[in-house]
Amino acid sequence: MSAALDRVLVVVPTYDEAENVEVIAGRLLAAVPTAHLLVVDDNSPDGTGAIADRIAAADDRVHVLHRADKDGLGAAYVAGFAWARERGYDVVVEMDADGSHAPEQLPRLLAALEHADLVLGSRWVEGGQVVNWPRSREMLSRGGNTYARLMLRLPLRDATGGYRAYRREVLDALPLAQVASHGYCFQVDLAWRTWHAGYRVVEVPITFVERERGESKMSRAIVLEALWKVTLWGVQRRTGRATQRG
Ligand code: GDD
Ligand code: MN
Repeated sequence: MSAALDRVLVVVPTYDEAENVEVIAGRLLAAVPTAHLLVVDDNSPDGTGAIADRIAAADDRVHVLHRADKDGLGAAYVAGFAWARERGYDVVVEMDADGSHAPEQLPRLLAALEHADLVLGSRWVEGGQVVNWPRSREMLSRGGNTYARLMLRLPLRDATGGYRAYRREVLDALPLAQVASHGYCFQVDLAWRTWHAGYRVVEVPITFVERERGESKMSRAIVLEALWKVTLWGVQRRTGRATQRG
């Protein structure tokens, strides 16, 4: 008997997404009208937080968590997950603000969650695709995923992706306060912790469309953090040392 999956919260971290936040909120609430949305804004200089407040004032399903400073995608999600747990949502979804993760594909992720504990929207399984990425970015994503798969023996094709749905039980069980990954390696960190804890992780194909407005926050520092941490976890795994992940 699986628990009810009725109450869904979609957590969308934002940093300088003023041109995108209203569009994504509208698309999400149209695609899955029963879902709630939590925007986690890191005090964006472009005023994204104020726009989100205005959307929230007009729609009970929309909420905003304001954070003082830019502290990375991972920290924003940890804060959003804590907010969701306090309010007893059954399902917590991760989604980017820039339209790369189509809300219209969310029902597919939620359906797969009926028989899984974590569903990954995957670009690199059969049927998945990326639209409008330069070759260099595709190589980085494919290379990063291959490296994580080999280093961690993680049987997933897209562990770095950020469109996913968790059962709340998974977030209750993971030591979220200890997750110190700031950038996009947060995604690998949580996928690995979830899989390692024995939960059912399933990938469903998505079409990832590169953003049309605003800029990616991907940086050299984010790539290096991911490379360094995946290497460290991989070495710890091989030497059998207690995974003291920071
Ligand atoms: N609150 C907050 N704080 N949000 C942030 C921060 C931050 O420091 N950094 C990025 N974001 C938000 C962006 O505003 C956007 O909504 C989302 O996180 C993803 O950021 P992008 O900059 O658009 O990421 P990307 O398109 O380059 O990267 C995609 O691929 C990565 C690697 O596969 C995303 O799907 C990532 O989730 C994924 O890890
Ligand atoms: Mn993006």
